[in-house]
Amino acid sequence: MSDVSDWWRTSIIDMEPGRIELRGSPIQDLIGTVGFAEMIWLMVRGDRPTPDQAQLFEAALVSAVDHGPQAPSIAAARMAVTCGLPLNNAMASAVNMLGDVHGGAGQQAVELYYLVAESPADLPQSLDKWRAEHGKIIPGFGHRFHKPTDPRAPRLMELVRDAAAKGAVSGRFADIGEAIEAQITLEKGQPVPMNIDGATAVIYAELGFAPPLARGLFCLSRSVGILAHAWEQQQQGGRNKGPTPPHYRWTYDGN
Ligand SMILES: CC(C)(COP(=O)(O)OP(=O)(O)OC[C@H]1O[C@@H](n2cnc3c(N)ncnc32)[C@H](O)[C@@H]1OP(=O)(O)O)[C@@H](O)C(=O)NCCC(=O)NCCS
Repeated sequence: MSDVSDWWRTSIIDMEPGRIELRGSPIQDLIGTVGFAEMIWLMVRGDRPTPDQAQLFEAALVSAVDHGPQAPSIAAARMAVTCGLPLNNAMASAVNMLGDVHGGAGQQAVELYYLVAESPADLPQSLDKWRAEHGKIIPGFGHRFHKPTDPRAPRLMELVRDAAAKGAVSGRFADIGEAIEAQITLEKGQPVPMNIDGATAVIYAELGFAPPLARGLFCLSRSVGILAHAWEQQQQGGRNKGPTPPHYRWTYDGN
């Protein structure tokens, strides 16, 4: 019957009645000893981070939990609740708003950093190659709202530098991120500082995550804020709240 048992193949979990092992460790040994961030790492990658790596990883997860009700994902969660959806559906609606433009810059930035890492001395050429494929905007830099500086990015970079000083990571993607920031600032003739997605991408690249996982990890992180907002909205009540108070109207541009 191997065609049946082989239908799903996994190295994540092994189980029989009374025994649950995750990545080779009995669940009862993980409960109470492993932090949630470390657990995410173990589940996704199969190995354990060092304490310094776990700390840096957790910092990235903490940094992206929320960006307020004007972030489309958070607004979607709150609107969903006022439509009568329970928390799980509100969370799913919100996570579904995270795409290439909202929440996708981290994945794109990790891809870019790995491209630049192939030949760091040729940064301007790598950026040109990226722009030829993806357009003029470099992911992970600039911010519409936080000017001049996204407060999350310098703090995360400080932690990366601390971790590099301890040998927990190499620091080479921090160098690459900063070199990109300097290059696009030079090209634009005005500051285009690293934002949260650029900084979390430095961390995920330093820790060796594949680019699509940067998207997944962002979703996990933002889910915390989504849950908090959905729950708060449920406590507040409110029915059928659309994106603006109803006395504001859209612009009708038909005839
Ligand atoms: C977030 C974003 C839309 C803000 O753009 P903005 O409001 O136009 O920002 P600014 O007004 O400060 O931009 C100043 C100039 O720098 C350019 N610029 C801003 N971010 C840039 C970037 N990441 N790459 C290249 N150029 C950029 C703008 O196009 C503008 O150029 P212009 O004067 O020739 O039109 C933009 O920075 C962006 O798309 N960044 C990349 C995506 C990203 O990381 N998103 C996550 C944000 S947390």
